[in-house]
Amino acid sequence: MMELLQTPVDQRPQWAALAEHRARLDGVSLRRLFAENPGRASEFTLGVDGLLLDYSKNLIDAEVMGALVDLAYATGVHRRIEAMFEGERINTTEDRAAAHVALRAARDQRMVIDGENVVPRVHHVLDEMGAFATRIRSGAWLGYTGKAIKNVVNIGIGGSDLGPVMAAEALSAYSDPGLNVRFVSNVDGSDIVSALRGLDQSETLYVVVSKTFTTVETLTNARTARRLLVDALGNEDAVRRHFVAVSTNAKQVRHFGIETENMFGFWDWVGGRYSVESAVGLSLMIAIGPENFASMTDGFRAMDTHFREAPLAHNMPVLLALIGLWYNNFHDAQTHAILPYSTYLARFPAYLQQLDMESNGKSVDTEGRLVRVRTGPVVWGEPGTNGQHAFYQLLHQGTHLVPCDFIGFLRPVDGPDEHHDLLMANFFAQTEALAFGRSEEEVAAAGVRADLVPHRSFAGDRPTNTLLAGRLNPFVLGQLVALYEHKVFTQGVLWGINSFDQWGVELGKVLAHRIFDELSQDEPPAPGHDESTNSLVSMYRTAAAR
Ligand code: F6P
Repeated sequence: MMELLQTPVDQRPQWAALAEHRARLDGVSLRRLFAENPGRASEFTLGVDGLLLDYSKNLIDAEVMGALVDLAYATGVHRRIEAMFEGERINTTEDRAAAHVALRAARDQRMVIDGENVVPRVHHVLDEMGAFATRIRSGAWLGYTGKAIKNVVNIGIGGSDLGPVMAAEALSAYSDPGLNVRFVSNVDGSDIVSALRGLDQSETLYVVVSKTFTTVETLTNARTARRLLVDALGNEDAVRRHFVAVSTNAKQVRHFGIETENMFGFWDWVGGRYSVESAVGLSLMIAIGPENFASMTDGFRAMDTHFREAPLAHNMPVLLALIGLWYNNFHDAQTHAILPYSTYLARFPAYLQQLDMESNGKSVDTEGRLVRVRTGPVVWGEPGTNGQHAFYQLLHQGTHLVPCDFIGFLRPVDGPDEHHDLLMANFFAQTEALAFGRSEEEVAAAGVRADLVPHRSFAGDRPTNTLLAGRLNPFVLGQLVALYEHKVFTQGVLWGINSFDQWGVELGKVLAHRIFDELSQDEPPAPGHDESTNSLVSMYRTAAAR
């Protein structure tokens, strides 16, 4: 039977309805929307297991939200959510499941992928990781010369780095202070040199993380680390006590020289950028301990349960996805800012950058057709209050509309209360200022010189979501990561794209491989590039020859 092609999203009647709502609300300010609806904040606030989303400071009303939710049902978001939890092969171009939700399933849950309940396997690896992490943390695991491990160096890149590094930093207050956990990702030699500075090789454990175990950056760094270790400890046998691998590719791990007994596995149905709670998080687990890691997994699971069970109109990841689509496609916004008011979440925007941009930076739909609407936004951000003194000028008075997610906490992880009060005063003030601005009349009435009035006025109507949690802890971090994972997935469904492949990274890799030969060989192959690249390559070779 012929399968019906998916209707492109912009050909659906719900899309046309949204365009009408956009025209209807044109010029309607947030001041007016709040004035007309005294219950607006509570109407547009949702709490899930202690995490609160206030989305009232968006350029929406109940009808817009209704129309967005209609679009979600029309594009089958509810069915795709179920398909993901059912372990279906929703990653169509790679013909496999995208089943990261199985990584946080409770021990007694079932999740069947290709006919097998994978949950026991997931927990088997988590148990192995727990036992290993405990041996490292307690000093029971000894290095080659008999010393306990004091330093853990994670070597990986992309999803094999950003998740662990983001979470290790986010949860550093929960980490064992006696352990030094560092991360090496870049093939730039300065990365490994600076990460290893001051470390004693005899007390260092390397965790080499690579789903494929073929990633050039990771293998180059791992080979360098291995050479330094063997040089320092004087024997190849040391590798066994100082290197562990995390991968789906046992053959390549063995080929590298790491015994499979020192390997922690995961599976091809886990995407790199969706993997921090799998064995990919081993360094993190060593840092924070198995109990905190389990609590993070609980947070993931709480959000998964909500995502699967809540109706779309009251579903936090779906709401974030729909509001994002509203700006992306109906307000011409091209970027989305993530603004955590926590220094510990400094790497969270970079983590979400990969999650979102590698997932939804696509221009072909699941049917192989060019998409006709704008897909995933440019994601960026920095912690507040630092960003306020850097780029918020543009958020308040620039010509770009930048929808923002403000992420804050009722209580601090540490530090004096006065600091937290000041931090959060800024947090609340910013979304208020962005939404309601300061009119020319108000500025003039405050006695500002007439010629400065336009410069000192704020138009307002700059949309924000506020995410507020009790305190940054492992559970909350799990909730936040799962929230954004599901948001990104939902947007992919809405736009009709596959959020789980990343073919766009391949061409650069192929060309780099070829150019590497041209840079490094004495008798290089004839350069066969465009004139610009040929001359840049030749300049590099000339400099290297000096
Ligand atoms: O090049 C992109 C990418 O494949 C990411 O999707 C992935 O997270 C990263 O490289 C690292 O891949 P691996 O874990 O296989 O080394």
